[in-house]
Amino acid sequence: MLCLTTPTDPEWVALAARDLEGVLVDHAHCEMKAASHALSLVARHPTSLKLVKALTALAREELDHFDRVVDFLSSRGIDLGHPPVDEYAAELRLACKALPRDGTPLLVDRLLAAAVIEARSCERFKLLQGVVEKDDALREFYEELFACEARHFRTYRDLALEAALGDDALVTRRLEALAEAEGRIVQGLAKKAVRSTIHG
Ligand SMILES: [Fe+2]
Ligand SMILES: [Fe+2]
Repeated sequence: MLCLTTPTDPEWVALAARDLEGVLVDHAHCEMKAASHALSLVARHPTSLKLVKALTALAREELDHFDRVVDFLSSRGIDLGHPPVDEYAAELRLACKALPRDGTPLLVDRLLAAAVIEARSCERFKLLQGVVEKDDALREFYEELFACEARHFRTYRDLALEAALGDDALVTRRLEALAEAEGRIVQGLAKKAVRSTIHG
């Protein structure tokens, strides 16, 4: 799906079905992180107003998602709690740093790493629709988010293309490298999965 090289292990779906509360809590933290990461990119790369506007709008949308997941938690009497260590994001950051520094602007890689995360979210929300098929409110929410994450993937890829001065071959190459690394990360984390996460 989108740029992903490795589909989610079917065991992830079984784990999510057994621990929907854990999925909701992790999901809430992911939305907050998505918003704050978009804003951190704005803070670090304020020179392109196109990027500033696009990522401000994206952050606003992620914050709205966060707020709505918190409503689901609240209506089910589930606490949000502190975010657990995010091994997926940490390993993806390392993979991003490990790419050959061949003059590609760091911003291109950062935007593409964010695109890969959106692609994985998109895939997971599709899978979650099947997990909650009898819960209309949650299923409709995941349907909406599935479309949002696909759009966010394109936003990040488009911004990366702009940051790469229109070099589509470069963007495709770097995205493939990051997607392959992400696939290995997801496979590695699946082997030691002990809790339900939106990523990893
Ligand atoms: Fe979101
Ligand atoms: Fe997103």
